[in-house]
Amino acid sequence: MLRLLTAGESHGQAVTGILEGMPAGVRLSKEKINSYLSKRQSGYGRGGRMKIEKDCIQILSGVRGGITLGSPISFMVVNKDYENWVEGMDPFEGNLNYKQVHHPRPGHADLAGALKYGFDDMRHVLERSSARETTARVAAGSIAGHILSNFNIEWASHVRQIGSVSIREKEVAFDALKKAEHSSVRCICKQTEEEMIKEIDTAKAKGDTLGGIIEVQISGLPVGLGSYTHWDRKLDGKLASSLMSIQGIKAVEIGDGFEGVVQSGSLIHDEIFYEEKKGFYHKTNHAGGIEGGMSNGEVLIVRCGMKPIPTLMKPLKTVDFHQKTPHDAAVERSDTCAVPAAAIVAEAAAIFVLADAFMETFGADSMKEMKERWKK
Ligand SMILES: Cc1cc2nc3c(=O)[nH]c(=O)nc-3n(C[C@H](O)[C@H](O)[C@H](O)COP(=O)(O)O)c2cc1C
Repeated sequence: MLRLLTAGESHGQAVTGILEGMPAGVRLSKEKINSYLSKRQSGYGRGGRMKIEKDCIQILSGVRGGITLGSPISFMVVNKDYENWVEGMDPFEGNLNYKQVHHPRPGHADLAGALKYGFDDMRHVLERSSARETTARVAAGSIAGHILSNFNIEWASHVRQIGSVSIREKEVAFDALKKAEHSSVRCICKQTEEEMIKEIDTAKAKGDTLGGIIEVQISGLPVGLGSYTHWDRKLDGKLASSLMSIQGIKAVEIGDGFEGVVQSGSLIHDEIFYEEKKGFYHKTNHAGGIEGGMSNGEVLIVRCGMKPIPTLMKPLKTVDFHQKTPHDAAVERSDTCAVPAAAIVAEAAAIFVLADAFMETFGADSMKEMKERWKK
């Protein structure tokens, strides 16, 4: 079983993680992990913070000579911005009065977090609730993804919608997703990309923010990852939990999702065929590659809806936490739209779950064992 613990404050020294349960004998590429981290930092609509950070992984344990040992992999990604925040963030010398936050931002953990933990200063909350934490999840997803790459399992993502601008295509083939890699908003259509960029510029000029819809696809999965036998073994349930936990994600759908429920059964279910060479297959994929909580051999398709960024440069109304009087919400340097970056986080969150499910079926001790069981 793969387990991940993450730690780190947004302006603290580093984001760290412990990835426990990785099989032995997986060859890791540092360049691959770093290039994935850098994709999370990119995307049109992001704020100044990402210009400061240039994320690079440092692996502290569990790997020798580029090969996993089967022991816990601990890693860290240093926050370059820490040097500007030492005065407030140093674990022992930090000044607790530094940049305090008393005006909770609607849409963030600020208010509920301060009430729950009894804080006077919402800095304590936002430093940890920040999406900077997703750096650790992308690093861990990338490491776990090295398992799947050994079995020709591939993944990709694209942005279907930003604000009110969406691509026209209902279905996008896995191979077409490569086009998203060349787009600053991860859009597969040039014309829609321009409209999305305009939408972001308009929102930014108004001090406003945008959300959108992401799609992640995974191809090459074998039949039978996950299980129908018990609720907490279902692959769709595990994916939804992992994806929904990403900061700002408010909806997750698999396959046709919400659109599918208004169709009649005769149109929405994927009929089953058999050919000697191909084995069992479906001609359509409304189910998005999962039936009965298990992968069914088709491309896995999952979509996530991200709410607009809650820190607005034209601040929303809130209440001063101590005076209980109306006030503008706090403003921190912030993104206008982080949907393209969230697509990479969603890929990583999905890969993590799939790598875990793969290990459950094909062995969790070593790559050698997995390859032998895969052949059978
Ligand atoms: C990659 C990424 C970057 C984000 N950047 C920002 C940001 O700059 N400012 C902000 O207010 N929210 C940002 N968010 C969104 C917030 O983290 C999120 O809305 C907040 O944590 C509350 O989300 P929740 O209600 O889903 O937990 C970002 C989210 C992601 C995934």
